Amino acid sequence: MTHVLSAVAWPYANGPRHIGHVAGFGVPSDVFSRYMRMAGHEVLMVSGTDEHGTPILVAADQQGVTARDLADKNNAVIVQDLVDLGLSYDLFTRTTTGNHYRVVQEMFRTCHANGYMVERTTQSAISPSTGRTLPDRYIEGTCPICGYPEARGDQCDNCGNQLDPTDLIDPRSKINGETPQFVETQHYFLDLPALAGALGEWLDEREASGTWRPNVIKFSQNILEEIRPRAMTRDIDWGIPVPGWEDQPTKRLYVWFDAVIGYLSASIEWARRLGEPDRWREWWNDGSAEAFYFMGKDNIVFHSQIWPAELLAYGGKGDRGGEPGEYGELNLPTEVVSSEFMTMESKQFSTSRGHVILVGDVLARYGPDPLRYFICAAGPETSDADFTWSEFVQRNNSELVAGWGNLVNRTATMLAKSFGEIPAAGPLEPVDEAVLDAVRRGFDSVGEALGRHRLRAGISEAMRVVGEVNRYLTATEPYKMKDESQRERLATVLHVAAQCVSDCNTLLAPFLPHAANRVHAVLGGEGELVPMPLVEEVDELDPGYGAGLTTYPVITGDYSTTPRWESRAVVVGTPIGKPTPVFTKLDPSVVDEELARLG
Ligand code: MF3
Ligand code: ZN
Repeated sequence: MTHVLSAVAWPYANGPRHIGHVAGFGVPSDVFSRYMRMAGHEVLMVSGTDEHGTPILVAADQQGVTARDLADKNNAVIVQDLVDLGLSYDLFTRTTTGNHYRVVQEMFRTCHANGYMVERTTQSAISPSTGRTLPDRYIEGTCPICGYPEARGDQCDNCGNQLDPTDLIDPRSKINGETPQFVETQHYFLDLPALAGALGEWLDEREASGTWRPNVIKFSQNILEEIRPRAMTRDIDWGIPVPGWEDQPTKRLYVWFDAVIGYLSASIEWARRLGEPDRWREWWNDGSAEAFYFMGKDNIVFHSQIWPAELLAYGGKGDRGGEPGEYGELNLPTEVVSSEFMTMESKQFSTSRGHVILVGDVLARYGPDPLRYFICAAGPETSDADFTWSEFVQRNNSELVAGWGNLVNRTATMLAKSFGEIPAAGPLEPVDEAVLDAVRRGFDSVGEALGRHRLRAGISEAMRVVGEVNRYLTATEPYKMKDESQRERLATVLHVAAQCVSDCNTLLAPFLPHAANRVHAVLGGEGELVPMPLVEEVDELDPGYGAGLTTYPVITGDYSTTPRWESRAVVVGTPIGKPTPVFTKLDPSVVDEELARLG
């Protein structure tokens, strides 16, 4: 048993999330976390909405509301979408809480005390026509590294490199196109070069473990070669106040400095809410704990460089030495698990152009598991992937409905009709032993893939096992055993089939938790087989700190009843009624309807 931190990227609260987002961070982290719990590990899965920085300000300006109102509104929508998708967070919180502010400020103060936050004079962009500061994201220009013409002042979305606005060639304001003016300003810089040695050692060790996806480790090592100090404060009036600069309300901590600390602050908040305020240390201070970080590839630099650098600086582990603060020595990521990009109907998602499918819309029309299935089977795990409605409908109909759903349905229908319960098996024949064995081996093969967060391999292996059980029914033909003399053999085959369906359901539970609970009911089980997350409205723990929240919704759950990753013997005599279908066949007309919605 290992303590496993499942650290899931924090979605920006600048709008509702689309399916590309949950394909990147959401579903992969949930499948992994559910599996790791089933395998007996102590999982702590945390995240929240990322509510500071220019992304939020840009959206708030566009809608004519305050940043706080915009964040409140989108936080509520995102929380609902993620819980409906069944993502089993121990705590999904926000970056505007008092707890988060306090943890972030403690991190800053100790990094500063250890000498890794250095003050520097730098150039800040202002709008010549208004005199107001122009946040990085409002500045666009040509990327000096790859030549992409629409790079932003903070990052190039084409090559993934972090930028400063002054790096851009031909910078222009996104608001009105004017050329920004650069004036002198003071900022705190994280002295990354002083941490480069420690970062390099950590990356070498991670590379040697051989577990990271090759693209991710290569990218992380490459960016280490061009490491330089990065500003961790911004000229902006929405964000966490900079310790020591409280008298300068237009300077705040950089959104990425605070967001990545969310993994730690959410763990602390979780422990405080539990009434065991030091419990989080089991995942952060104990060197044998493991930490897996899930995200889309545009986030890699922040998780394989900035965040580990903050952790090393906090622990005093760079060239300038130092001592850890009150949180002690904090664990670095074991793995940075990044997915690639998902396009939709061959084009990039674009909320502004309406080329987008919102998570909430898919859930409302088709429920969670068809989407979860698509993402697991065909998502952007190690290479870019395309979502198309025709593939969505086709996979739903031929794999979920005709494959898994049909196996459940045939088995339960025959059981209901012939016995009304799970009958006892007579002597097993080789064909029975063979199928039971194939299913049992599935626990090893599917588990091996999921322990390495390989969703595609895991689900295709689970579905291969489902296929074997379907072939077993085709080969043994229980539906033809009408004669009284075949009754014992019929009982045996249906008992074996029920056992196989139950085991396949366990194998599929991390991927399809909602369906797992329905299949469990079809097989006469009581209650829920797998626990589900829920939304709870909680009180702000530190009133007066943070952005002034009083109560807010969190996602949480009690996952202690998670079943084990093993075969559970079906119970003879369990009543089985006529089943209701677990999955719904989609009419092919869905494809045209959905394409029409995209315009
Ligand atoms: N909000 C960022 C995005 O959507 C992700 C932040 S991950 C964090 O790209 F952990 F740093 F918060
Ligand atoms: Zn670029």
